[in-house]
Amino acid sequence: CGGGGDDLEPDQSRPIVIAHRGASGYLPEHTLGGYELAMRLGADYIEPDLQLTRDGALVAMHDETLERTTNVAALFPPRSGGYKVADFTLAEIKTLAVKPTGTGKASYPGFAPGSATPWSVPTFDEVIRLAQSSRSLVGREVGIYPEAKQADPAMEDAILKALVQGGYSARSRVFIQSFSDQTLRSMHVKAQAQGNPLPQILLGAAVMGADGVARLGVIGQAAQPVLLTFKDVASFAQGVGVVINASAYPITKAYIDQAHAVGLKVHGWTFAQPEAGAAAAEYRRYLELGMDGMFSNYPDLAVKARDQY
Ligand code: G3P
Ligand code: CA
Repeated sequence: CGGGGDDLEPDQSRPIVIAHRGASGYLPEHTLGGYELAMRLGADYIEPDLQLTRDGALVAMHDETLERTTNVAALFPPRSGGYKVADFTLAEIKTLAVKPTGTGKASYPGFAPGSATPWSVPTFDEVIRLAQSSRSLVGREVGIYPEAKQADPAMEDAILKALVQGGYSARSRVFIQSFSDQTLRSMHVKAQAQGNPLPQILLGAAVMGADGVARLGVIGQAAQPVLLTFKDVASFAQGVGVVINASAYPITKAYIDQAHAVGLKVHGWTFAQPEAGAAAAEYRRYLELGMDGMFSNYPDLAVKARDQY
């Protein structure tokens, strides 16, 4: 392997391209096939959202429920509220097939995935192993950017355990993200207690206060956003994840400058323009503001725009 070793210095010299849910504009999201394509298209990081199964395994999936991205509805009778990842064991999840109907299609021209199970729900460990094969697969290191989708101590522990067992450390190409500042504060403390502080980044929405002070409104609690100053965020995280193109939360150069002033990176999500010209203009706009990373469904377009900038 070799993807997560201590010898890996993250490349700080240019904005990073994060493959949002894999190459999810092209292939089904959160699949080994989609992640591999993202790596082949030049992504610097692959992003798995994480859910916990009933028996405590981390799997790559955005939703709490299985209906949108798997064939669960074809195998089980309809159930009010749907079937949750947490209702199934890992073995049961592995009997499901990922639907080609999400944001990604069923195939990509000229691409044959190397995985024997490219369209199953992958475990986090499988995604880690794929990222760690990047040197042999694509000739460069590809990082991993997991998101804790539940504010759950068991999930925090499972993520840290998987990363540490995978050899990742503070010097590796890894970011941990969460919508919950409490989750990231807790993971920061736990990682430091293990002597292995891993980079973390807070997902949130940019808010410029009426007094001109940049704050972070943690979304997912939209009715009552938690407002944090950049200085506070910098005490437990290495960056902020910000929504792009949301008129209520404009990303400005002043916002990014203030984040940078306390050492925080700013990664924007989600770049989802499939049309090359429109995508290029959008990437350029945020690169010009000083953005440090871009979550994209089309990593090839993001890489091209970044490299031409
Ligand atoms: O991590 C950025 C982005 O992934 C947050 O949105 O809903 O795709 O997880 P979502
Ligand atoms: Ca995510």
